[in-house]
Amino acid sequence: MAYGRLENKVAIVTGGASGFGRGIATKFAREGAKVIIADLSGEAAETIAKELGCQYSVADVTKREHWNDLLKLAVEQFGGLDIIVNNAGATYKNKPTMEVTDNDFDLVMNVNVKSIYLSTSVLVPYFLDNKRPGVFINIASTAGIRPRPGLTWYNASKAAVSNATKTMAVEYGPQKIRFNAVCPVVGSTGMTHLFLGKPDTEENRAGFVSTVPLGRGCTPVDVGNACCYLASDEAEFITGVNLEVDGGRCV
Ligand SMILES: NC(=O)c1ccc[n+]([C@@H]2O[C@H](COP(=O)([O-])OP(=O)(O)OC[C@H]3O[C@@H](n4cnc5c(N)ncnc54)[C@H](O)[C@@H]3O)[C@@H](O)[C@H]2O)c1
Repeated sequence: MAYGRLENKVAIVTGGASGFGRGIATKFAREGAKVIIADLSGEAAETIAKELGCQYSVADVTKREHWNDLLKLAVEQFGGLDIIVNNAGATYKNKPTMEVTDNDFDLVMNVNVKSIYLSTSVLVPYFLDNKRPGVFINIASTAGIRPRPGLTWYNASKAAVSNATKTMAVEYGPQKIRFNAVCPVVGSTGMTHLFLGKPDTEENRAGFVSTVPLGRGCTPVDVGNACCYLASDEAEFITGVNLEVDGGRCV
């Protein structure tokens, strides 16, 4: 495997302290990117940053001032910014839609959607002012394309991510800012137990995965590889796609 596909690139990976985000940060660091892990969980972020030899910042992606701080960090530490992976996400526990609370709704809309609004609101002007060809990769989900029951507003938040990604791709294409989404199918991460809607047993996890034609769940390595391609110059003509990393689940 050739390394160095992201040499000289500076990347922020939100939610990089766990699950898919950790896989993305690992792949990016291995391919030569200078990575900033931005996560609510400072302890986990610090451990992984040490392991990968990268930077970290304790950040809440739902806060505008934290996005301002992240941009400042990238510019001061690395001289600029090239790639943002909006990976941090949240869900409430799978339940009948009529039992969803206002807090549940606010959680998924804030962490999954408002974060992308804020990241673009802070970072697109930076790319435009500096005439840099920025790359946004937003982690959506197969849930936004082929939803399962019991997660109405999580699913809807991911559909919003996919749609906003396409809209911004066409709006900012002329300025060479690329926007793509990656849509993983269920994997085994910190939030998987919340998706099941049943007791978290091996049998119930296997039932979830049985709907995937390639016969397994998505891994952090799968997501890291997909993001690496979209972030690299190999994908310079790719914008506005929702890349399903799902073993055929959405066919
Ligand atoms: N796990 C799955 O099956 C699955 C499937 C499809 C899509 N996704 C999406 O993948 C992305 C990564 O999730 P994961 O499965 O790796 O889960 P995870 O729980 O393992 O990781 C999520 C990370 O995001 C961080 N985070 C949460 N809220 C934050 C905030 N406000 N600010 C900063 N960081 C915050 C957490 O601290 C954690 O490190 C999410 O967007 C999720 O919706 C997950």
